[in-house]
Amino acid sequence: MSRRLSRLNPNLPPILTAPYPFDVVDSNKKRALEEFPEGYVIDFGVGDPTDPVPELVRRKMAGAVEESKCSGYPSALGGAGYIAAVRDFVERRFGVGLEPDQLCATYGAKYASFHLPWYFCDPAGDDMCLIPNPGYPPYTDGTLLAGAEPYYLNISELSGFVPDLAGIPADIVARARILFVNSPHSPTGQVLSLDQLGEIVRFCLDNDIVLVSDECYSELFYGDPPPSVLEVPESADCAIVLNSLSKRSMMTSCAVGFMASRNPDLLGPIRAITRKSIQGVAHIIEAGAEAALLDDAHPREMRAVYQERLDILLPALESVGCVPVRPRGTFFLWVKVPEADTPLGFSETLLFEKGINCVPGNLVSKEWQGENPGDGFVRFALVPDIEQVREARQRLTAE
Ligand SMILES: Cc1ncc(COP(=O)(O)O)c(C=O)c1O
Repeated sequence: MSRRLSRLNPNLPPILTAPYPFDVVDSNKKRALEEFPEGYVIDFGVGDPTDPVPELVRRKMAGAVEESKCSGYPSALGGAGYIAAVRDFVERRFGVGLEPDQLCATYGAKYASFHLPWYFCDPAGDDMCLIPNPGYPPYTDGTLLAGAEPYYLNISELSGFVPDLAGIPADIVARARILFVNSPHSPTGQVLSLDQLGEIVRFCLDNDIVLVSDECYSELFYGDPPPSVLEVPESADCAIVLNSLSKRSMMTSCAVGFMASRNPDLLGPIRAITRKSIQGVAHIIEAGAEAALLDDAHPREMRAVYQERLDILLPALESVGCVPVRPRGTFFLWVKVPEADTPLGFSETLLFEKGINCVPGNLVSKEWQGENPGDGFVRFALVPDIEQVREARQRLTAE
């Protein structure tokens, strides 16, 4: 076995052997589910929408089963109808017209963000990727598998929830090949303004860095719609944007999204390798995604639903001494626990005394340069239905 292991891609072991920080959370939840009556635990833990995929999307997919008879390979880069719907959405939402060669269908933002370092990092070099902390784990794992090294940018109150680019040492900047940004940011819910995105683009241009902007929460917002990096014209020379239907249309089960760049050359190698490596998103899924992207009503309705859940949960948490960071996007609520508590202690008390599950913030972020931005925080995903959120308020505020 050890001989076989030693023959693995040498970049794999650090990923395979990395500790899994959620063991304690998983076993706590399992225990609570066993101890409480069925249906009692209200789960704000997992960031996966529980609301159904919109009916118009489900109907479209069901119709596509019969129409296509499910036969034939799909298009690796995205079928004509789906790509047209993506273009329509990007134009409507961000005011940017894109040609088909400025787009590529994906299996969602996870798949895309994991693979991008493979294209831009030299496996034999000493390249680095700059990654927000807390940040979505595939940014790190994809970086490691590409033979590059992660360098984290703490996203906290201290940094104003903005990556501190000026604070990156010059030798690190010189080695950086990719800067990942995520706005609206999971899990803090903070949004980068167009000016801030412009500054980030200029940093990348000045330092020859590819900007990967994960915008998968762009349609879940409170107040003003978050801008896209695509709205910064200079991004043409450095940026790739990722988006998906997972959060906008609750289509996590379908794994469908897209990559976009104003610069077809930046997507050229990715499109070429995509055609060599995958068959593409299934026709049936694309049919649903196409209908979803052309409809603005259901994201609007979902925003109202998340707003209602937020308006109930946020004051209830304040009433027990928490200090929530008011989100401007995503469906997460990033909450500072009372001073005397630790994130794990707070989440365990909530789970075992009130049947409310949330995630300790220090487990979704890393210790980096002497700071873990998740210390003192827990994360709530506003995915339980409104009755459950009301019930959570009741349990939180009960003496
Ligand atoms: C920041 C971020 N990016 C990407 C994803 C996954 O996106 P998709 O479902 O499109 O793969 C998530 C899911 O939780 C996420 O939080």
